[in-house]
Amino acid sequence: MNYEILVNKDNKMVDNDNLKLVKIFTNYKDKEMFLEEKTYEQFLKMKNEASNLGYEIDIESAYRTHEYQQKLFDDLVIEKGLEYAKTHVAVPHTSEHETGLAIDFCIYKNNKFIDEYDIEDLEETSWLHNNCHKYGFILRYPRDKEDITKYSYEPWHIRYVGNNLAKYLYKNNLTLEEYYNNK
Ligand code: DAL
Ligand code: ZN
Repeated sequence: MNYEILVNKDNKMVDNDNLKLVKIFTNYKDKEMFLEEKTYEQFLKMKNEASNLGYEIDIESAYRTHEYQQKLFDDLVIEKGLEYAKTHVAVPHTSEHETGLAIDFCIYKNNKFIDEYDIEDLEETSWLHNNCHKYGFILRYPRDKEDITKYSYEPWHIRYVGNNLAKYLYKNNLTLEEYYNNK
C-alpha cells in the first residue's frame, strides 16, 4: 500500500487490489463503515490520546465506493448547483475517500455530535489539526490553500499519508499538491 499517493482532480485513483479495508466503529451513525487497516489503527491511537485530554473525536465519513461518491456529488449538484459541488465534493475516482485513506471527523461534546463547519472553532479541532501529523495524518484542504487544492476549506477532512510525510508536510506547511509539484 502506497500511503503517499496523490489523488485529486488531475490524478485519478486506480483501484488497488491489495487494499485492506477493516470495519470501523463509530457512534455517529448506525451504518456499516470501513477504512484502510493502518489508517484506522492510527486514527484509534489519535482518538485515544484525544480522549485522555477530554476530547471525543468520532468518524462521520470513511471509505466510499465509487457509486456512493457519485451519489454524494449528484445530490450536492441538485442542492447547491454544479459550480458549488465541484469545489466541495470530488467526482468518482478523484476522492481520497475511495482509497480508504481519508476520514471526515466529527466531535462529540455536550451530549451531541458536532460536524462539518460547526467544528471549525472548537478547541478539539484545533488540537487535532496541530497534532494529527504525529499519527500520520494531514489536514488535506486547509483554509489558505484553496487555490492549490481546488477545494473549499474542509476542517473535518484528514488524510493518512504515513508518519514521515505527515510530519514533513506539517512542518513545512505544504499540501500534497505542493509537495509533488516541487519534487
Ligand atoms: N469533499 C472531498 C473533496 C471529497 O469528496 O473527497
Ligand atoms: Zn472528506
